Amino acid sequence: MDRRPIGIFDSGIGGLTVLHEVGQLLPNERLVYLGDTARVPYGTKSPETVTRYSIENTRFLMSKDVKAVVVACNTASAASVDALRAEFDVPVLGVIEAGVEEALSRSVEWRIGVIGTQATVLSGKYESLLRAKGAAEVVSAACPLFVPLAEEGWTDNKVAEEVARIYLQPFLGGAVDTLILGCTHYPLLQGVIGKVCGPEVRLVNSAHAIAVKLRDQLQSGRIENNTGPGDREYFFTDSAERAGAVGSRFLGENLDNRIQLVDLTPFESGKP
Ligand code: DGL
Repeated sequence: MDRRPIGIFDSGIGGLTVLHEVGQLLPNERLVYLGDTARVPYGTKSPETVTRYSIENTRFLMSKDVKAVVVACNTASAASVDALRAEFDVPVLGVIEAGVEEALSRSVEWRIGVIGTQATVLSGKYESLLRAKGAAEVVSAACPLFVPLAEEGWTDNKVAEEVARIYLQPFLGGAVDTLILGCTHYPLLQGVIGKVCGPEVRLVNSAHAIAVKLRDQLQSGRIENNTGPGDREYFFTDSAERAGAVGSRFLGENLDNRIQLVDLTPFESGKP
């Protein structure tokens, strides 16, 4: 039994899809969310820069006395999970490993597709993990326009469907039987992605997969909080108003009066 909170960070607002799943599965846990809205997007940045940001984000969460850190951002998971594990002495869970395990457990023929940001796809992280675990076929594609579409709330109109038809071409016609939604924002477009891919392609939402993995890890380490009360704190590094508006839509509940702005300067490298 451990009443310390769980830290969750993302490059911005999209990681609230992960917080939502964690909250559903572990309602007694206290959750501290950090969205780095001042420096989003991570998906177009170099692995070195994303790792530096991830370390600073984790230092901030550690200052809140968290017992575990969930890297909700796929791009940050691809670039930085190993560096975070080397630097911090709490369990660090990356969304990529969780998504890979879930995809392999649901796929029949182990022909897996991955969609994500440019940086995630370029990192080859999903692909190498899937192949190391025996996947027969891995097809990946970056879908950068899905992020702004999700933030605008354009998730089920003709534009979203047309964009999905173009991006998802490599996964059609039996190329894969399972598709990993390898970006925080993509679960919001699950409807159009499913429509374009058809029912024969299983969609894996990494947000749910990492929540399950987190529950298992807390239980095996005996650091879960079974009695609550669960609560949530939301920190953003910029644009609190927009974070509140878009975040409330991502989360399906009103965040406005629970949002705090944070300056990460004290957590930069070389600072205590
Ligand atoms: N959170 C990012 C991810 O899951 C998407 C947004 C960004 O590019 O920062 O990869």
